[in-house]
Amino acid sequence: MKVLVTGGAGYIGSATVAQLAEAGHDVLVYDNLSKGHRDAVHPRAQLVVGDVGDRAALDAAMSAFHPEAVLHFAAWIEAGESMKEPERFFRNNTANALNLLESMLAHDVRRLVFSSTAALYGEPERTPITEDARLLPTNAYGESKLLVEQMLAWFHRIHGFSTASLRYFNAAGAAGERGERHSPETHLVPIILQVALGQRPHISIFGSDYPTPDGTCVRDYIHISDLAAAHLLALEKLASSAEPARLTYNLGNGRGYSVKEVVECARQVTGHPIPAKLEPRRPGDPAVLVASSEKAQRELGWSPRHASLEEIISSAWEFAKTQV
Ligand code: UFG
Repeated sequence: MKVLVTGGAGYIGSATVAQLAEAGHDVLVYDNLSKGHRDAVHPRAQLVVGDVGDRAALDAAMSAFHPEAVLHFAAWIEAGESMKEPERFFRNNTANALNLLESMLAHDVRRLVFSSTAALYGEPERTPITEDARLLPTNAYGESKLLVEQMLAWFHRIHGFSTASLRYFNAAGAAGERGERHSPETHLVPIILQVALGQRPHISIFGSDYPTPDGTCVRDYIHISDLAAAHLLALEKLASSAEPARLTYNLGNGRGYSVKEVVECARQVTGHPIPAKLEPRRPGDPAVLVASSEKAQRELGWSPRHASLEEIISSAWEFAKTQV
């Protein structure tokens, strides 16, 4: 297929582009390189440097490439930051997504795989979380993505769009030379590894009074290669469906680890002591987010191949060591 991938130079986007290109798809990456990296783009994919907020540039890319489907990764992702400057998230994640949908409509491109998030659920009533759980984000990041899912529902109903919203839990690990390198880094695993590399003095643990077994937040960490694989399966399902489809899947391993457990696992993997300091909670963080991915397994035939936290952190560690 001809696939346009926004944010295809970013962390999860570039790992997915690599799998798409290696599976023989024709890929155009559309990325403004504000967070992404030119060298992360697979050599068989084309790169257009452009912003999803720039309708003229987006239209030009659509007209020149004629995609059959779009994968939309480009977004701000830091839940903590969204509680300081929500406007940036509503502009970049919500308003720009509408720009993309309008451009797709104008070019009669009606298949979309959307990077959604576990942050839609907020504080869940039940764990593991299924897709029909209540959607009540506790941070502006989650709200900015929920609004997009709601727009997709109307584009499906009124314009016959086929959409797959993939609700990622905590993406982690590296796919060979494609790993996490945000600047500044806010995510737990790469920050812990920066401590192991001596680039930071300690890891700050945000909150130790949560209602969890050890008081620290519990998350479901999923390897980016497994996340990437789910995109290819979702794309195939959209392409093969006779009627406009509207798919929603959680993507996680179904097993939660606390912040303290992640730190401990990283100590084992790296052999470094990794000092930790207990600090106050970060606003907007739910206590526990663990996925039921049973629906994705059943309907897409997806199953995580790198489910162990040790394997996830080992791959991130191999990558982190190349970044010094
Ligand atoms: N944390 C720390 N110290 C740090 C960084 C993080 O204790 O220095 C804690 C956080 O408070 C949280 C956990 O580690 O409890 C994970 O935090 P991350 O920032 O790595 O990830 P989040 O769970 O906040 O959010 C991530 C993605 C979102 C996605 C969400 C889904 O950034 O895009 O996972 O669960 F929506």
